[in-house]
Amino acid sequence: MPITFDSEKRIFKLDTATSSYIFEIYEENYIVHLYYGAKIPDCNVTQLKYRGSFPSFSPNNINVSDPMFSPDITPLEYSGEGTGDFRSAAVAVRNADGNNSTDFRYKSHKIYGGKPAIEGLPALYVENDADAQTLELLAEDSVTGVQAVLYYTVFENLGAMTRSVKIINASDRPVEIEKVYSSCVEFHTHDYELLTLYGKWGKERSLERRALAHGRQLVSSKRGSSSHHHNPFAAIVDKGATEDYGSAYGFNLVYSGNFAFEAEVNQFAGTRVLMGINPDGFGWKLEPGSSFSSPEVVMVYSANGIGEMSRIFHRLYRKHLIRGKWKDIKRPLLINNWEATGMEFTGEQLVTFAERAAELGIDMLVMDDGWFGNRDSDRCALGDWTVNEKKLGGTLSEFIEKINALGLKFGIWYEPEMISRDSELYRAHPDWCIHVPGREKSIARYQYVLDYSRQDVRDYIFGEMYKVLSANKIDYLKWDFNRNLTEVGSAQLPPERQKEVFHRFVLGTYEVMDRLTKAFPDMLIENCSGGGGRFDPGMLYYSPQIWTSDNTDPIERLSIQFGTSMCYPASTMGAHVSASRRTGYETKGNVALWGSFGYELDPNKFTEEDKKIVKQQVGEYHKYYDVIHFGDLYRLISPSENPFRAAWEFVSEDKTEALLTSVVMRKPEDRALFIKLKGLDPDKYYIDEDTHEVYSGALLMNAGLCIIASTDDGTSFKKYFKAVE
Ligand code: DGJ
Repeated sequence: MPITFDSEKRIFKLDTATSSYIFEIYEENYIVHLYYGAKIPDCNVTQLKYRGSFPSFSPNNINVSDPMFSPDITPLEYSGEGTGDFRSAAVAVRNADGNNSTDFRYKSHKIYGGKPAIEGLPALYVENDADAQTLELLAEDSVTGVQAVLYYTVFENLGAMTRSVKIINASDRPVEIEKVYSSCVEFHTHDYELLTLYGKWGKERSLERRALAHGRQLVSSKRGSSSHHHNPFAAIVDKGATEDYGSAYGFNLVYSGNFAFEAEVNQFAGTRVLMGINPDGFGWKLEPGSSFSSPEVVMVYSANGIGEMSRIFHRLYRKHLIRGKWKDIKRPLLINNWEATGMEFTGEQLVTFAERAAELGIDMLVMDDGWFGNRDSDRCALGDWTVNEKKLGGTLSEFIEKINALGLKFGIWYEPEMISRDSELYRAHPDWCIHVPGREKSIARYQYVLDYSRQDVRDYIFGEMYKVLSANKIDYLKWDFNRNLTEVGSAQLPPERQKEVFHRFVLGTYEVMDRLTKAFPDMLIENCSGGGGRFDPGMLYYSPQIWTSDNTDPIERLSIQFGTSMCYPASTMGAHVSASRRTGYETKGNVALWGSFGYELDPNKFTEEDKKIVKQQVGEYHKYYDVIHFGDLYRLISPSENPFRAAWEFVSEDKTEALLTSVVMRKPEDRALFIKLKGLDPDKYYIDEDTHEVYSGALLMNAGLCIIASTDDGTSFKKYFKAVE
């Protein structure tokens, strides 16, 4: 049993195959955290609740027999505001008397097989109850009567667990939640480094590493989306941990809105890690009898370095986050017209794209922004989701028929949460955008954000999309989102609920996505936000792939894809070959093959030589699809650590295939790349497809392989190994 409760010692133990997470119900029903780390067989860790010395200025509880116990010192599972713990609280509820003292203590619990869904929110799921076990722990604030249900789900075989919280107002007076983190995890030292993914538009998810220091370290977004700027991922790793050595604790929030991750090093050098909805700008009024559910945090522990942490996330997300028809079957290789044409295209021109694409073996044409209303520039028409038949030279159905007749599927672009200032929709409903009455609305890309906290707005947009999508044969939808939220207010909510708008907006988006996936279960959805501005597990629940970045330069893409791979699997990363300035098509293809592959250019401009390369790439896409999409990733040479080269490898789950890729970023001193492969079976023999040499897995991993390849900037190579009998 992965979850056990020792009723005598009152200790909960949550085990995966490789990790243990332990906490205790202490005197006065305090929920005391004891341990999270590599798997241990026993629970004899109760000494860990102390800090060794008693500090002045840390309050005690008069009813606890041990004077060394203080809520300010003891590691706690879900600590509240203002009741003896001066560290950053996991939860704060302002009660009807106007103060926000909050103190949840253990009341009861249940343990069961499976994993419950979270109402209105994306979450990891199981198809079979045997795949996970859940602990639901009910805690209560005895003064206010407000309750907190702490959910812990353990994925035993995958080395991962999730945490989320439901706050229930079981009192007879309204309260306001001021802060509700989804998880609180305590570490006994601060001997760690913090890994985060920062960035900006066109340069998302660069890996940053820093030592933990006293005080609070915060990574967050208050843009209304998870953002290009900070990803809702962070890891606490041993000092000096590498891809293969050291402990790594990964945290990833399944949420697409304002988030915060805090690591606070306290007076005794312990570390509290919190993650959830960003409390900055958040508030939620809870009427008696109602409840609020937090998004969930995915927690992964690896004793074998950062690489293994990533592979656990990847396996978990492929199996328990990605859903629907496109989870396991091959996705279409697409060509998108955006970088080639912008909004200035005609139907006739796109048909020529499709003709060339068909000759090259490409599966699908995606018509990007510009097909609706009078959308000829980014200044207008968002919200006017009627087909511009003049531009297409006929109806959408007629256009799609031409594409389908060439043997290609068809995909379309939408930006459903937006409204242009210059649009029919805005003229008809100026109050449908997020705004604050009387205050100038900030414009970004000449557009406003629709108020998705409103049911009428959501119903209208879904209805308009439904008309187009149900009347036409559309195989794919790119859901874009090109600005952040400002002057955040909703015309439909009372003043005391205005702090709810950010979260209600996210819930509204999820609702429309949910309706879309149910109405069109066969349609592949690719999420996008000016590239990867909403690359988060919340979006992956609705769309199995996300456009990784608007930056398609293959050298720039290396650090973006390396960073993204910290927790997101290759199959989720939209990666296209474009006409970008640097490197030839071969390297562009080798980099884009890492993800969900496609092209983003005018295929009419290909030379005969280019066409040969593209045909070869299309073949490689099919040949290597399984090893890339379902295999394990090994980051061999990181572009942020090595100034010259990057290298990575995919190994199939059964270890019978391996694909190694390396790119030269800057001319290295040595011509030969001496590389040790990882993840192979030491006892198997592998044939090198190019040279037909056969090597043992042990040789390839321990002695390594000397590869002589071009060292010119922007060149690259791939090597494919297959196990032989
Ligand atoms: C931003 C996206 O990232 C691009 O790929 C493209 O779809 C444009 N928006 C269209 O406006």
